[in-house]
Amino acid sequence: MISDATRARINELFERYPDRRSAMIPLLLLLQEERGWLSPETMREAGEVLDLPPVRIYEVATFYTMLRTRPCGKYLLQVCRNLSCSLVGGEGVLRHIEKRLGIHDGQTTPDGCFTLMTVECLGSCGTGPVVQVNGDYHENLDVAKLDKLLDSLT
Ligand code: FES
Repeated sequence: MISDATRARINELFERYPDRRSAMIPLLLLLQEERGWLSPETMREAGEVLDLPPVRIYEVATFYTMLRTRPCGKYLLQVCRNLSCSLVGGEGVLRHIEKRLGIHDGQTTPDGCFTLMTVECLGSCGTGPVVQVNGDYHENLDVAKLDKLLDSLT
């Protein structure tokens, strides 16, 4: 059940979007903020609010990597795997995270602290390698900077 606080924020959203369906992504982000991820039940509820069948919600939720359709850890590490980042060491950053945390793409550490995900271009190609952690960008990464970052999160 959607909390009263989130319901109030959804109603604010609808004031800005005359066609409720246009508010789908911000609405899903609100629900994700409340619950951590978009479960099938949450997508069903979103469909009810938007007067859309759940499959329409699912189609959008599974397209955008900023929307999570699986539970994830306290920190979601999204590593850019596109060309510009790869040319400046993105693969090495990814391998170092995998080695240090003992997880691969799509997996979560047993303590529930980190989830690792590779993503398409994060739009910060000039400052690669880039890793997004819960929405915050960390750029120009190398192994030393990455270790410092991970240390600060544990
Ligand atoms: S290629 Fe990595 S941010 Fe664009």
